[in-house]
This record gives sequence, structure tokens and C-alpha cells, in this order.
Amino acid sequence: MAKDFSTLEDSNRSSNPSVHEALDPARRQVLYGGAMAVLAPFLAPLAGCAGLVGSAAPRLGFEGVAVSSADAVVVPAGYSAMPFVPWGDPVGIAGRLPAFADDASNSATEQAVQMGMHHDGIHYFALDGSRRGLLVMNHEYVDHGLLFTDGVVPWTAEKVRKSQAAHGVSVSEIELADGRWQPVRPSPYARRITATTPFAIGGPAAGHTLMKTAADPEGRSVLGTFANCAAGMTPWGTYLSGEENFQDYFSTADQPTAHERRWGLRKRSWYRWAEHDERFDTVRHPNEPNRFGWIVEIDPHDPTSTPVKRTALGRAAHEGAWVALTRDGRAVVYSGEDAAFEYIYKFVSRDPVRAGGAGVSAARANAELLDHGTLYVARFDADGRGRWLPLVHGQGPLTNDRGFADPGEVVVKARQASDTLGGTKMDRPEWLAIDPASRWVYCALTGNRARGQPNKPGVDAANPRAGNVMGHIIRWREADDFDGESFEWNHLVLAGDPANERPEARGNVTGDLFACPDGLAIDARGVLWIDTDMGPNSMGKGEFQRLGNNAMLACDPASGEVRRFLVGPVNCEITGAAWTPDGRTMFVNIQHPGEPPGVLSDPADPRRWSNWPDFRPAGRPRSATVVVRKDDGGVIGT
Ligand code: FEO
Ligand code: CA
Ligand code: CA
Repeated sequence: MAKDFSTLEDSNRSSNPSVHEALDPARRQVLYGGAMAVLAPFLAPLAGCAGLVGSAAPRLGFEGVAVSSADAVVVPAGYSAMPFVPWGDPVGIAGRLPAFADDASNSATEQAVQMGMHHDGIHYFALDGSRRGLLVMNHEYVDHGLLFTDGVVPWTAEKVRKSQAAHGVSVSEIELADGRWQPVRPSPYARRITATTPFAIGGPAAGHTLMKTAADPEGRSVLGTFANCAAGMTPWGTYLSGEENFQDYFSTADQPTAHERRWGLRKRSWYRWAEHDERFDTVRHPNEPNRFGWIVEIDPHDPTSTPVKRTALGRAAHEGAWVALTRDGRAVVYSGEDAAFEYIYKFVSRDPVRAGGAGVSAARANAELLDHGTLYVARFDADGRGRWLPLVHGQGPLTNDRGFADPGEVVVKARQASDTLGGTKMDRPEWLAIDPASRWVYCALTGNRARGQPNKPGVDAANPRAGNVMGHIIRWREADDFDGESFEWNHLVLAGDPANERPEARGNVTGDLFACPDGLAIDARGVLWIDTDMGPNSMGKGEFQRLGNNAMLACDPASGEVRRFLVGPVNCEITGAAWTPDGRTMFVNIQHPGEPPGVLSDPADPRRWSNWPDFRPAGRPRSATVVVRKDDGGVIGT
């Protein structure tokens, strides 16, 4: 479908409150907040934001950087990118500050109070404007070849515990001192949430038969979160994280059940936790996998709070979740699942967001907001319109006769329910980004080699390329308010490489080429930032090499121009991005530098591909955040 930018700009501003202004419509100041996120009344007073919106300055005010294969982070002239809070540094819990050991000899107990591995979704929660805040991020997965001194031989219970401790979420306090960001250690906010941290279950699956286990006969509490990919935040100041590839942590019987097969579970577990932790053996604990694949909500301001799995948002290999507000203040949560031929969802809360003051009290005022509402799956029609199909028990085919006994079973089996309703099977939905000004919602579809292959779904209007190795970005806009059941849609861009030998992989990028979009975020000036996750396994070695290391690009949605802003080190992936409210610091996550595609790193040669960011002679590559600043102190991207 051809690009159409003609209707995008200010003529389409709606009266929807953005999450920045919902509780204070008089305060039109727009704040940076990662996925456009913080309600102004929940924040301390902020400085330096005025004049960002409506500026006549071009949106892409930097000189793009070239493709790079260097083991370095490359940013435009006039910018710096400093590594920050890498895997293994202490998160900052008082009395528990173990230093990272270059040979990966830290114990499981030490790892549980250090930064996790493989940084992904990230958000900055202001404590003192753009000078001090909480940096909250996901640690999506681990490389067992790097996590232990001697790799996976022998495979021990201690290694399983360390692997579990390197997953989850971290909360770090950080401050800007003398022009440089520093971790605050110790900090009363510092926290690690791992694969063994207690979680509550909220929503229609709480207490459901499918959620009960020997350890939790009530079906209301779960140990841990893992496979946490993208991040969003709520207007009430909490952090949302998606449990993405949870299927890789469980081991089934020789023949998985039909339900397990639909969710990608198999006998051979990539992470091998079941060998020393029977919770991950589905023969013994068949319902344990049902307790993962949720959006989890964390209050970073209260380190004693119990995080919650929000089952009303549906179970999926969730990349993440992003919140918009209806005109009357209800929360609309968009999410997708990064798996080939799976779905895009939205949830509309029953109740409006309640004002609750600042920080912890706001979170408490909305503690059950995401437990009540309506879940939908997207259907993209060929005429450029689409429908949200309700996943409501008793409506349409979602009845007991069709295998859905009650609302809890519908959300636990959201994939099966979406199959039944006829949702559109997408090319791996990764991050979404909501532009509250134009009301376009963007979704990165990272690619799907299997599209159009024998015995697989063929192309459709929304997923128009067979053997889609390059990916695309789709966008939609609701017919009226964000809670609407119909929308218009089109493609922002089909990613690709004009030099590709296959015409269908060349795409229609205007500006710097890229492929496999994954992370998305819109800043306060309306720039759409795109992170790539290209790899030889997904696109072919030659295609991959031409495109260089993974990158972060900026797109001006008004013109469609894409410009390369940052290139990461060898074999990394660029994952999340977040901003301080003044837009003058951007935090970008660099995940798995040096990772050999599809296999574990070699513990005997951990520096084979990369030694970023430390470059110590006996070190090893570490996922890390980079702090991006402009030398003149200006707003990033201007
Ligand atoms: Fe964790 Fe879909 O990237
Ligand atoms: Ca991702
Ligand atoms: Ca990805």
C-alpha cells in the first residue's frame, strides 16, 4: 500500500488528552517520557521543556551516520554516547554491592543484586526532573556461554539459579552530577525483580483452574517474570513489561499437548531450567506455563510493592504494552506478540484513570484499573480499514462449546480465541508507539520468512511480502476515540535494501536504508525512533552484511524520511530508548554485543566477536545502556 502522509499533521489533532496532560488539561507542556508517558501532575516540577512543541526547526536536525561494522557505538558529530549500568554492575541495594567479575565468576546470590543481562525495554521515571530519576529496564534473556566462567558444562543447580537471577527487571536510581550521569549507590529505590520474585495475579485469570499449581493451589500468585522484552509506562506512573519468549523456558513431555503446541512449547528447552528446577517441567506442573506470557505491572517508586500480572490484557508472547487515553480518561493498552503469524491486541479499561497525587499514591489509586475492561484482537481488511474483534466470553464463537468455558479461559487461551475470531496473523509485531498528537499508532513488524511458504499463510494486505525478511512498519488510527472498534490503516514504510537481488526485499525507504524494525518510540517533537534487530538467521548472511551492525534511526513521519542516528557494536541489537523530560539525555539499550547468531558464546573465547564496552584484556562483552548527550547540551535530534 502506498504511503500517504497527507493527512498526518496537525489537522488531525484530536481532543484526546495525552498521557502528559490528562489530569491537567491547562498544562499543555509536552514532556519527553520514552513512549510518551508521564502525567504531569504526578511529577515534580520540570524545567527546560518549553518551546519543544510547535517549533519550526526541522525534526531531523543531525547529520546521519554511515553503516558501520566497528565494535563501537557510533553517533553523529556533536554527540557523545557513554556506556552506563552494564550487566553485572551492582544495582545499588545497601550493603549488597558486589562488583562485576570479568571472568563471570559472580555467584547466583551476587547476580540477584547486580544488573541483569541483555538490557531491553527501558524507561526514565523522574524524581527530580531531568537531574535525578529511576532508570527501570528489562533484562530479556541470557547467554549461558557468557554468564558462567565455564559455560554450560557441567550444568548445575547453581547455574540455573544464576540464570534466573540474571533475568527480569532492574530499578536503579541515577543522577546528573557535573554534567555526567552517575548511578546512586546505595539507593532506597534500588531493586531487582527476577525469575523468582513473588507476583500477584490480577484480572479474569486470577484464581482460575488453569492457573493453579501445587505451589499455588489458589492460582493467585506466581514466582517471577522472565523473557521481559519491551517497556511502556502508565499515566499513573507504573512500568509495564511484556513476557515474550516464555515458551523457551519450559520442557514438555516427548509429545506436547495441543495447548502446549499452540504456544510453541517443546520437549527441548533452550534454557534447561527444568533439569534443576522442576517447576519448569510441564509433565509435573502442566499449568505453570499458563502463568507466563502476561503483561506485568511494576511500581518502581515502592521497592516493597508486589508486582502484578495483568491477565485482562490477554496472554501472548507479549513484546510489551503501550497506553493511550480516551477523551473521558479510560486507559487503552495496545500490545502485540512477537511471533510469526500472531496478533495485535488492544484493551480498553472499564473505568477512567483516577488522580491520586504523586508516585506511590497514584499507583495505588489505579491498582486495579487494568483488571477490568474489554480485550480485542485486530483484523486488518484489504480496503485500508480494520476492526477490533472483542475477546469476550459468550460473544460470537467464544463459548463453552468452542472450548472457552469462561472469561479466564479466553484470556489464558487468547491465541486460540483470536484464531477462532479471525484476527489478522501478522509478521511478528514488535514495539508499538502512540502519537497522541496525530493519533496514529505505529507497530514494527520485524519480518517473517515463513510468510507465503508451503503450508503457511500467504500474503495479505497488511503483510504484503512473501518471505518477508526485511519487515515493515504499519500504523492505524481509530475512527473516533481510542476505544473505537474500527480504524483506518496503512504502511509507514516497507523496510529493505535497494541493492537486494530480490525486488520484494528492496522496500520503499526514503533516506537511510534499514531492515527488521523492532524498537519504536516517539519523542516529544514527534520524531519516530526505530531500532533494528537484523541478523543473518532472519535475512541471509549477504543481506545482513550489507546493512552493517544494528542501528537506531530517526523518522520524520511528516515526510517519511529516515536518517541513521546511532550504530551499535558487533553482533548487538539496539533495544529500548528513553528520555529525560527535557529531551537532552537519551538512554539507549545495547543488547547482546558479540553474540554469535543462534548459538551460545564460546566460554573459552568470550571476546571473539566483541569486547564492548569495557575492552579489558580479560573481560567479556556486556549488554549496557548508553547515555546519549549533545555536546552543546541541546535536545537530542535537533
Ligand atoms: Fe524481544 Fe521481540 O524482541
Ligand atoms: Ca524486541
Ligand atoms: Ca527482535
